[in-house]
Amino acid sequence: MFVCICKGITDHQIRQLVTESGVGSMRELKQHLPLGSQCGTCVKVAQNIIDNTIIDESLFKEVG
Ligand code: FES
Repeated sequence: MFVCICKGITDHQIRQLVTESGVGSMRELKQHLPLGSQCGTCVKVAQNIIDNTIIDESLFKEVG
């Protein structure tokens, strides 16, 4: 799914940066991707994806 239509950034790209590069905030995400640099409507969705991915990851770690 495209999160940032202006820059063509997908939720998969965001999740990958959170899990593989340790991105934990919008500020860090923006260092990797130009997300939100145009209209900015994607910022809230991107923040949710970061938060949910971190939660999923910590649940996974506790179980596994
Ligand atoms: S949708 Fe991301 S800057 Fe416009």
